[in-house]
Amino acid sequence: MKFDQLQAADDANVIGTYARLPLQVVRGAGSWVWDGDDNQYLDLLCGISVTSLGHCHPHVVEAIRDQARTLIHASNLFYTEPGIRLAERLSASSLGGKVVFGNSGAEAIEAAIKCARRAKQGGEIVTLENGFHGRTYGALSATHQESKQAPFAPMVPGFKAAAASVESIEQVVGPQTAALIIEPIQGESGVHPIADDLLVAAREICDRHEAALIFDEIQTGMGRTGTLWAYQTTGVTPDAIVTAKALGGGLPIGALITGERLADSLQRGDHGSTFAGGPVVAQAALAALAVTDDQYLLGRVNMLGERLREAILLLPGVTEVRGRGLMIGFDIESGDAPGMVNAALAQQRVLINATGPNTVRLLPPLTIDDDELAEAITRVASALANHAAHS
Ligand SMILES: Cc1ncc(COP(=O)(O)O)c(C=O)c1O
Repeated sequence: MKFDQLQAADDANVIGTYARLPLQVVRGAGSWVWDGDDNQYLDLLCGISVTSLGHCHPHVVEAIRDQARTLIHASNLFYTEPGIRLAERLSASSLGGKVVFGNSGAEAIEAAIKCARRAKQGGEIVTLENGFHGRTYGALSATHQESKQAPFAPMVPGFKAAAASVESIEQVVGPQTAALIIEPIQGESGVHPIADDLLVAAREICDRHEAALIFDEIQTGMGRTGTLWAYQTTGVTPDAIVTAKALGGGLPIGALITGERLADSLQRGDHGSTFAGGPVVAQAALAALAVTDDQYLLGRVNMLGERLREAILLLPGVTEVRGRGLMIGFDIESGDAPGMVNAALAQQRVLINATGPNTVRLLPPLTIDDDELAEAITRVASALANHAAHS
């Protein structure tokens, strides 16, 4: 199908909830994707931090292929080994408790909310202003952004917002709180890291009120920030984390991973999903984890992230650079980040994303090589310079 026909078919048949960029992605390999005319683009976004090992990583492809030939689905009415092995692996690599699977980030958040409410029945769920936790009703109720919530009011009761300050958390979290859910780095609102000392204070406040502290690691997890999980450098151990995005190596999966305290909060019959933790996605996730949970790879994520942040900070028109590892946001003077992103796509053939009027986000593959990183810097610099010249 030609691109204009594809756009027309999309308009006619797909409910228009997405503002798509004008590119048809046809295939991908490593750090690159190709359009319908075989033009090659450098992907610094990874499908919003999903294909973090690059497109079609051979280990992930092989795992999917092998499992698809053996068993695609059996449901959770029965035992299947890949999902159980994945739960074992996730627990061992993080909080040592138990895991419940879903099929997306939002579903993992729903599971976290239910788990915390099961542990403290009727308890409130507190999240931070400017956080993003997903689009289903529970997750949306935890996402205190007027533009996202207002058209769908009323929200689920029992959700409260705190500002990202000790005073505000102290004020909002109390004995009535079931959980405080925090993204260690707020991704969708523009890559804003939450300071370690605030996380330490949040831990103390939650402990005092017997509230669960849950980290939303849907975007920060799976090596994105230079450790397997972002919490590992904060000095804080949460009661649970939620993960999704890169977990399945590109396939849809989400997971709530608890520590000991919440491991047995949800009871048989309390939660479920037909597809969750199925054998194909579980094998893909096991393969993705085996590649990602590697000191050499994670060391490179830190090194390359630093290199990228330093280079971007030197670019004219950049006012601030934030982030950790290869999760990077930068603010630009022009106030037209969406325009710059469009120009980058059309002129430099590089995939990046705007999280707001001033902020550009980069989520490059963790496997990006030195030459590709240099190319990334050149293309982003040219896109910025061209955009500045024409705005
Ligand atoms: C931190 C965070 N939480 C939750 C979600 C929702 O995940 P999903 O889109 O897979 O439902 C996202 C998605 O961007 C996210 O970044």
